[in-house]
Amino acid sequence: MLSNFVYCNPTKLYFGEDSLSYLNDELKKYGKNILLIYGGGSIKRNGIYDSIVNILKDNDKNVIEINSVMPNPTLDKLYQGLETARKQEISLILAVGGGSVIDYAKAISVSINCSEDPWEKYYIRFEEPTCKIVPVGAILTMAGTGSEMNAGAVITNTSTHQKIGHVFQSEEIMPRFAILNPRYTMTLPHYHLIAGIYDIFNHICEQYFSGEDDNTSDYISEGLMKSVIHSSLIASKDQNNYEAMSNIMWSATWALNTLISRGKSTDWMVHMIGQAIGGVTNATHGMTLSSVSLAYYRYIMPYGLAKFVRFAKNVFNVDPADKTDEEIALEGLDRMKAWMKELGLVLNTRELGVSEDNIDEIVSVTAILNGGYKVLTKEDIKEILLRSLDER
Ligand code: NZQ
Ligand code: ZN
Repeated sequence: MLSNFVYCNPTKLYFGEDSLSYLNDELKKYGKNILLIYGGGSIKRNGIYDSIVNILKDNDKNVIEINSVMPNPTLDKLYQGLETARKQEISLILAVGGGSVIDYAKAISVSINCSEDPWEKYYIRFEEPTCKIVPVGAILTMAGTGSEMNAGAVITNTSTHQKIGHVFQSEEIMPRFAILNPRYTMTLPHYHLIAGIYDIFNHICEQYFSGEDDNTSDYISEGLMKSVIHSSLIASKDQNNYEAMSNIMWSATWALNTLISRGKSTDWMVHMIGQAIGGVTNATHGMTLSSVSLAYYRYIMPYGLAKFVRFAKNVFNVDPADKTDEEIALEGLDRMKAWMKELGLVLNTRELGVSEDNIDEIVSVTAILNGGYKVLTKEDIKEILLRSLDER
């Protein structure tokens, strides 16, 4: 740990099958008006909505609703939600869903009392809130993004095809509390379950594949990756396996709650390219990452070879005997691909609607960051995207 850092995460977590009962305790800390935000209806079909509304009624709360928050929430939906949210004094925003709903709730939270345009302020100028923010509580129904314990909020501007994430500096934006019941994730469509699993894995990779010092964060990352690989193979075949689903949920939270990035420069280029694909195609977040990962990691492997060798040995158990470093590293990536295939992840971008015709647009909206083993040029990104088109 050679660099200096600050670590603070104020989100209180309630984990397990009884976790929703703690909502009663949390609600006592807030006033009458609760803004309940949820997605396209899964929580009504699986009964979570009724359980929550009964607790809100028992606590004599006045419930205002924003529903139909879509996957990859849009700026138009944010403007529309703000009209509802500004009608009454809101004491707590209760977000019930996956990353899309929780991110959207944070974007509402920092914008309710702000007179400036939220897109310009938070997603173009990347400013911190200068107004009073409204606290957010999260009830998680999909494991993946880590939004339940971080300060990230990703919004898509459909008119400019830009999907931009703002990771706020202030820990006040992190949910005040998060309720994590692994049973809630058992009704997820298989496609979203595995997309979420790959999102978790890639969050860890993005932080792991950076730096050259001996860093405790990397050892924690390796443990998390092993747990995700192990549990994912069980959960993908049997979503009712509580043990596997609970490990996945817990790993997701720790993969992106700022812990494993401490002391690291961090890469995040798979996410930048994935977000650009998402902005242009509206594809599912985790699949945008899986579709470019193999081409990306093979491309940067020579620049961070020692870490790729370590990844192969420590995460995918590659036997290094009689092999060159390059052979060990490549075998690690091959094993990663075999795991991805077994889960059923999307391995190429063509399946998501990318073609030779829109690659230049995707390149043009990809942000370039400099924390990984190679600072990419626009030409590098184009080459990676071309190689991602037909991976099988
Ligand atoms: O809308 P409903 O009907 O609820 O259906 C959702 C949605 O269609 C469904 N779903 C969720 N829980 C369910 C369920 N269906 C049945 N049973 C359940 N228990 O799953 C679909 C996908 O949900 P969504 O919230 O979009 O998925 P995810 O959690 O992957 O969130 C994706 C968004 O988060 C952003 C992504 O870019 C994307 O916009 N991210 C946020 C991050 C952060 N805050 O730090 C980091 C991530 O890298 C990511 O960028
Ligand atoms: Zn992600």
